[in-house]
Amino acid sequence: MWAGRFTEPTDASVEAFTASVDFDRRLYRQDVAGSVAHATMLAEVGVIDEADREAIVAGLRGIEADIESGRFEWSSSLEDVHMNIEAALTERIGEAGKKLHTARSRNDQVATDLRLYVRAETDAIVEALRRLRGAVLDLADREADTVMPGFTHLQAAQPITFGHHVLAWHAMLERDAGRFADVRRRLNRLPLGAAALAGTSFPIDPRITARLLGFDGPCENSVDAVSDRDFALEFTAAAAILMTHLSRMSEELVLWCSPRFGFVSLPDAFCTGSSIMPQKKNPDVPELVRGKAGRVIGSLVGLFALMKGQPLAYNRDNQEDKEPLFDTVDTVRASLTVFTGMLAGLEVDRAALRDAAGQGHATATDLADYLVRRGVPFRDAHEAAGRTVRCAVESGRELEELDLGELQAICGEVVQSDVRDVLSLDGSVAARAHPGGTAPARVREAARAARARLGGEQVGGKQDG
Ligand code: ARG
Repeated sequence: MWAGRFTEPTDASVEAFTASVDFDRRLYRQDVAGSVAHATMLAEVGVIDEADREAIVAGLRGIEADIESGRFEWSSSLEDVHMNIEAALTERIGEAGKKLHTARSRNDQVATDLRLYVRAETDAIVEALRRLRGAVLDLADREADTVMPGFTHLQAAQPITFGHHVLAWHAMLERDAGRFADVRRRLNRLPLGAAALAGTSFPIDPRITARLLGFDGPCENSVDAVSDRDFALEFTAAAAILMTHLSRMSEELVLWCSPRFGFVSLPDAFCTGSSIMPQKKNPDVPELVRGKAGRVIGSLVGLFALMKGQPLAYNRDNQEDKEPLFDTVDTVRASLTVFTGMLAGLEVDRAALRDAAGQGHATATDLADYLVRRGVPFRDAHEAAGRTVRCAVESGRELEELDLGELQAICGEVVQSDVRDVLSLDGSVAARAHPGGTAPARVREAARAARARLGGEQVGGKQDG
């Protein structure tokens, strides 16, 4: 493409070193869409004529069909997806093909392709998140009454409902969806028209190209348009946060399905066995999701390192943005798919959860709150409840098993027989009936509200790259 300037051909090692077509061919659809829009705009403003535009568009469509059916021959001597497609176009339609690159550079071309790609993948991820969130809300509804121990420091802290616990997962995932929507909003500007960095001397109208490609408008500044990849950073950051959430959920599932906890069992179809121990049923899926979170975090760190030293405007370093981005997309989408299936088949052992919640004096706070309602200052109530726990521990019983006389001896006459309801697991969770609380009624209500929000969310994808 640049033979005019050079007196010797590119060294074979350099050709191999600089070629990106083996991975950036993934952008072919976006590259064709960008070129079709560019040619259409060029014809509209009169830079190329209508016949050239028609030949270009038809040629590009033919190339796209060939790529899709596996007939297209990629060549690494043509470096990247852009030059492969452009060269094939000229081969196919002749002179008109050579006009496509008028008023354009690969710098604004690749920035456009990437934004289109990230936009489409953002929409796909939001959609996959919607399915996962639906599965989480189903679980919350189904297990709204299921009592379990809530943990802090991985020590039983207070009883909560299982539904409430998984609504915490939903809250995390809902913010993730919001983050991806933010990414989309900011990235949806067209770089094409910036050319190499300074714009072009042709009378282009990037507003036309932007409209054709579904962008909200052109980028403000041509130097910025070709150089920044902050949209890729934002996307990967949103992905890394999402994967961190999935990883934490995974960690809980791994613990919970261990026989030592025995809270849940994962569907067989989402577990694997051991090649040596016949009895094993291993939670490899959540373990892998936990592991893959590290990979996405690594991609984010890699992209930061890629960007931080670059002076304006375009530098070839940017070619290295694609593999971490592609890997992030593949990892996130695969993780969301398996996670949704796994949660849909999750079995919850209600009796085991209740049993675990009943151990460890988890209603001690309820006893203290009860005393406060009877006029005991909180600090004194806390102390009395603490002594009650010690008595239970020393006699090998749970709080619920102490009789009224024992409770009165420790906490005073303020304790009446109605303390029973307060010390019971169901009483404890039902008492937390404020908005955002763990009471079954509140969980059902919160799940319903979350489902309504989920239904009302707009997915951005009115157009595809
Ligand atoms: N393959 C390049 C990339 O991914 C395309 C842009 C190349 N531009 C250039 N001036 N060398 O960034």
